[in-house]
Amino acid sequence: MTSPGFKRRARSQREQALLAKTERYLPAGVRNPTPSPEHAMVIDRASGCRIRDASGNEYIDYLLGSGPLLLGHAHPAVVEAVRRQLERGSSYLMVNEPAIELAEAIVQTVPCAEKVCFNSTGSESTFFAMRLARAFRGCDKILKFEGGFHGMNDYALMGNQWTRELRDFPAAVPNSAGIPRSLEAEVLVAPFNDLETTTAIIEQHADELAGVIIEPLQRTIAPGPGFLQGLRDVTLRHEIPLIFDEVVTGFRLALGGAQEYYGVVPDLCALCKGIASGYPISVLCGRGDIMALASPTRQVSGGYVAQTGTFSGNAVSCTAALATLRELQREGTYERLFALGQRLMDGLQAALDGVGIAVQVSGEPPAFQPWFTSHEVRDFRSALQADAAMNMRFTESLLDHGIVKAHEKFFVSTAHGDEEVDLTLAVFRSVAEHLAASQQP
Ligand SMILES: Cc1ncc(COP(=O)(O)O)c(C=O)c1O
Repeated sequence: MTSPGFKRRARSQREQALLAKTERYLPAGVRNPTPSPEHAMVIDRASGCRIRDASGNEYIDYLLGSGPLLLGHAHPAVVEAVRRQLERGSSYLMVNEPAIELAEAIVQTVPCAEKVCFNSTGSESTFFAMRLARAFRGCDKILKFEGGFHGMNDYALMGNQWTRELRDFPAAVPNSAGIPRSLEAEVLVAPFNDLETTTAIIEQHADELAGVIIEPLQRTIAPGPGFLQGLRDVTLRHEIPLIFDEVVTGFRLALGGAQEYYGVVPDLCALCKGIASGYPISVLCGRGDIMALASPTRQVSGGYVAQTGTFSGNAVSCTAALATLRELQREGTYERLFALGQRLMDGLQAALDGVGIAVQVSGEPPAFQPWFTSHEVRDFRSALQADAAMNMRFTESLLDHGIVKAHEKFFVSTAHGDEEVDLTLAVFRSVAEHLAASQQP
């Protein structure tokens, strides 16, 4: 079962030895697209939209480091800019020209951004966004949406896409052992795309709600007509900060992110993947009066929100982000990205329709995924009805055909071209036939 041009080589001795060490030393620190030992791989290098394992197999990459490689791997303009910066030092703690220039560029690009703070990961920026909201409002509870993912901090890791225990709204379900039980009471969970229930929860808890955080494109589930605007209206009515987690959508759906794409502007926003071509940086930005609480002058005047980190605003990551932004600003970038993604979404739906496998391809062209179900997927509970085992077989079969994706999404980059898309569409058809054949009694 190989696609034209792809025939998986036997695992090399080097890769076998590296996998043995992985098993011995790294219980959690590495990721593969599927848990199957047969498909485990160690990555050796990547360039553009191609990634190569330590046995020399080259795959078309739609995982893209889980999203950050919006320009593809090792984009020459980013590599060159970073190389020049590396010679001048990498991390000074103190403010530097690339950080200042990047802050200015973010304010000019992202609709909600009046002021900017830098962090290193998405989890930090969502964490600090919630802390800022709590300080601003003088109360503690945060509302999030069921199935939404905001990273690894204890407040975010509730009711996300890994949840299997369904509680009545707005009760939160922790997604990890080790989260203090007391925090469950500080997080309220609402159903995505259900404005009526969400509004009722917000109105009932308005006095104790510090903020509402949402992935505007939740995983790959698009907001229904009026949902984000309705959320904006009710949060404005109660003066509750609305936080967009644009860790995935920032720079990916548009230069101004989902807030530009969907036309709804939040009070605060977290950006991360997509902004710096794989260099670790995240951005927390938003309304000047809320962001001002992070100013160290507040240590004297009171109400200071601590939010800093050793590598925050380091010159290398900021340089990479500026170089990435310059490339993305080229005319026609998003038109091409969307056109390629749309061909992939349509081709995937058609390939599976063609063999009678029920599927819903959800998302936006730069980030999408198949759900193996005949039901409409509009929130977490409808997504749960999809056939997860079929999705895993689909992901593994793609690997057998030389294509890497996350077990959830496909990410598309500007480095993908018509050649890779044509090849991928041919693979979709082969994989669809393979899945249909394996379903026969
Ligand atoms: C929407 C969203 N928010 C937050 C995060 C956490 O970002 P990080 O892994 O950089 O901490 C992720 C990571 O996948 C994400 O997809």
